[in-house]
Amino acid sequence: MGRKVLVTGGTGYIGSHTVVELQSVGFEVVIIDDLSNSSADVVDHIEKISGIRPAFEAFNLLDTDRLDAFFEQYAGIEAIIHFAAFKAVGESVEQPLAYYRNNLVSLMNILDCMSKYKVPNLVFSSSCTVYGQPDQLPVTENTPKKEAESPYGNTKAISEEVLRDVVKVNPDFKVIALRYFNPIGAHPSSLIGELPRGVPNNLVPFITQTAAGIRQQLSVFGDDYDTPDGSCIRDYINVVDLAKAHVVAINRLINNANSERYEFFNVGTGNGASVLEVVNTFEKATGVKLNYKIVARRPGDIEKIYADTTIANTVLGWKAETSLSDTLLSAWNWEKRIRNIN
Ligand code: WQD
Repeated sequence: MGRKVLVTGGTGYIGSHTVVELQSVGFEVVIIDDLSNSSADVVDHIEKISGIRPAFEAFNLLDTDRLDAFFEQYAGIEAIIHFAAFKAVGESVEQPLAYYRNNLVSLMNILDCMSKYKVPNLVFSSSCTVYGQPDQLPVTENTPKKEAESPYGNTKAISEEVLRDVVKVNPDFKVIALRYFNPIGAHPSSLIGELPRGVPNNLVPFITQTAAGIRQQLSVFGDDYDTPDGSCIRDYINVVDLAKAHVVAINRLINNANSERYEFFNVGTGNGASVLEVVNTFEKATGVKLNYKIVARRPGDIEKIYADTTIANTVLGWKAETSLSDTLLSAWNWEKRIRNIN
């Protein structure tokens, strides 16, 4: 087996897709996940796709005894991709302490283990929420960070500061933070995908569940924004393209190709799409008519954001390749498979 990589949160949405891409290029993957927002059968589905069953340990990263036991058992880990975090924006507003404790202390425990067990390389799952509502578009990596819109977004902004400061005093550490825009879609096999618990907060799973008849109607949160059709604009990135960005980042660190010991990159498509454009593209791609209505704005939503991907394309050497239409079709194929719809 190839070089060993730990993926925390590896049974989650982006984590599972990243595990598959790492395995496809020969990495040996070990997963830690507390299954608070995913299920263990994702490991079976990863094995079905790649033919390789990743090692999997189920515990929360706040449990430092389990973490020490893990690193004693799995020697030789060369890099960590850290996805494990609570990520529901609305929930973070209601439970800020749970979000700060889980997301920040988990990261600090991982950093302690990197020192203790001599693991030099870390790829961190960050988010475009660190930009808030940018004054200028598209956002580059130098666009000033703004007050986070939620405790969730603030945990990402604080985590980046922690990483920057910790790297300074740990000369062996090399860290890349990937600032995701809006991850959507599913693996072409339809064996893994996004499976939100309860009523989906995010747009695309709500669309596919409406198309599947699980939700009666999609609410479009506002069409009175300063955008061409009045609905909010986001940069929707295919989850497999996003997973591939993590493989590129891990290789960059392992091969010492990084130019700074703490780097961060915008991982988006560079294209903005409005909510209504997503709805129309979904209908065209799938042939399914969506039942939706325009309702009031959702508190906390920013009006528009999309990435300038020049640095990711030229420095990191990664570019998103999948169209919005194909990505929405992959999301629909996934929804049909898990709901047994032909
Ligand atoms: C997208 C657009 C909504 C649902 C969040 C997090 C971000 C990341 C991705 C974790 C907005 C509109 C949505 C619906 C709608 N998560 N919408 N009807 O809010 O851009 O980003 O998820 O990393 O950190 O902030 O994504 O999918 O919730 O919303 O009209 O039923 O779709 O108003 O304009 P968002 P989203």
